[in-house]
Amino acid sequence: MSDITKLIRTIPNYPKDGIMFRDITTLLKDPKGFQTTINMLVEKYKNTDIDYIAGIEARGFILGAALAYALNKGFIPVRKKGKLPGKTITQSYDLEYGSDTIEIHEDSFASGSKILLIDDLIATGGTAIGAITLIEKAGGTIVETAFVVDLPELGGAKKIQNLGHKVFCLCS
Ligand code: PRP
Ligand code: ADE
Repeated sequence: MSDITKLIRTIPNYPKDGIMFRDITTLLKDPKGFQTTINMLVEKYKNTDIDYIAGIEARGFILGAALAYALNKGFIPVRKKGKLPGKTITQSYDLEYGSDTIEIHEDSFASGSKILLIDDLIATGGTAIGAITLIEKAGGTIVETAFVVDLPELGGAKKIQNLGHKVFCLCS
């Protein structure tokens, strides 16, 4: 496995003092790094029974859309509040450096659809758990959750596993 960790840079004290921000823009702009990242996710999920990839705004859109294209699946955007035009289901949550609200269209998928949830990074798990809650409220089944980066000391991956969901991370 190629080491994508080297391509992720750390910006101290962003967006707040004390936060070590893991910035994937340096990974995304590296053609080999981006391709390797998506290829590793394709290898992991190419034989998994999935109906849709759901990606969390904003960085989950970049990875989720590329993965959905490569796997020939539809992509569902989990958006920050106020951006979706149709009727939505809404969930507020806390994250490492604040709080926010995410939404999906209530008719995003047929009940029982099998969803792979993807984001760039899991820290406290607040964002991903918010997205899981939304998808389940809309009648979806979470097949697995996938992230490029895990920050294990913040405990998010454990929390998701304790809710009974699988977590896959490319690096930590
Ligand atoms: C970041 C990251 C995850 C979330 C993880 O997004 O992309 O979505 O934080 O943190 P958590 O596990 O503690 O919830 P951010 O809220 O900064 O939004 P952005 O992608 O729109 O910049
Ligand atoms: N989201 C939550 N915590 C983060 C961190 N330390 N770096 C990048 N994104 C994050």
